[in-house]
Amino acid sequence: VSAYMLELYNDQLQDLLAPPAADGAGGGRRVEIKRTRRGVVFAQGAETREASSAQELYALFQQASAQRHISATKMNVESSRSHLIVCVLVESRNLTNGSLSTGKLSLVDLDGSERAAKTGAKDHQLREANSINKSLSALGDVISALSAELPHVPYRNSKLTQVMQDSLGGDAKTLMIVTVSPSETSLDETLTSLV
Ligand SMILES: *[C@@H]1O[C@H](CO)[C@@H](O)[C@H](O)[C@H]1NC(C)=O
Ligand SMILES: *[C@@H]1O[C@H](CO)[C@@H](O)[C@H](O)[C@H]1NC(C)=O
Ligand SMILES: *[C@@H]1O[C@H](CO)[C@@H](O)[C@H](O)[C@H]1NC(C)=O
Repeated sequence: VSAYMLELYNDQLQDLLAPPAADGAGGGRRVEIKRTRRGVVFAQGAETREASSAQELYALFQQASAQRHISATKMNVESSRSHLIVCVLVESRNLTNGSLSTGKLSLVDLDGSERAAKTGAKDHQLREANSINKSLSALGDVISALSAELPHVPYRNSKLTQVMQDSLGGDAKTLMIVTVSPSETSLDETLTSLV
C-alpha cells in the first residue's frame, strides 16, 4: 500500500509529502500529471510513500495535513482555499500464480464556490476564488460529457480533472458528497453546487 498527496492551489500542484527544503519552504519539485498505458493517473515528481499498516497510512495523512497548513500560512491566507487530492494505491500479488492486481482509491476534498460579492474577497483571494471556480466548472463539464456519453470528454481543461481522470470515467466508481448550507442566505452557493 502506498500513497501520494497533493494540493491544487491557484492551478499549481503542490506535493504535500515532499520533504521540506532547508529554508522551511515546501519541496520545490515540479509535479506533473501523467497516465500509464493502462490509463492510471500518476503524479510524476511527487513523493509516493509506502505504508505497511493502517497507522502508518494515517500518519502520512497527518503529515500531509500539517504541510497543507504551512503552505496556507506562507501564502497569507487565513482559510485554505485549495483542493486536496489523496491517492491510495494498493498492489497485491498472488504468490501461487504470480498475477498482480492493482487498485486505487482517490479521496478528493473540493473547495466550494463562494459568491465573491458576499465574502468581499479581493486581489489574491479573488484569484483563488476564480481558480476554484474554473476547476469546479471544468469538473462539471467532464461529468456532463460523461453522462451524455459524448465522444470527447474535456479532461484536459483543468489540472483538477486531469488528476481525477481515472476516478471519473472508465470502470471507476465515483461517490460525491456535496455539503450545502440549509440557510436561505446561502441559496446561491447551494444552487451553484447542486448544478
Ligand atoms: C491468478 O490468480 C488470480 C486471482 O488471484 C486470478 O484472477 C487469475 O485468473 C489467476 N491466473 C491464472 C493464470 O491462473
Ligand atoms: C491465487 O492463484 C491460484 C491459482 O490461480 C488460485 O487457486 C488462488 O485462489 C489464488 N489466490 C487468491 C487469494 O486469489
Ligand atoms: C464563481 O462562480 C459563481 C457561479 O457561477 C459566481 O456566482 C461567482 O461570482 C464566481 N466567483 C468568482 C470569484 O468568480
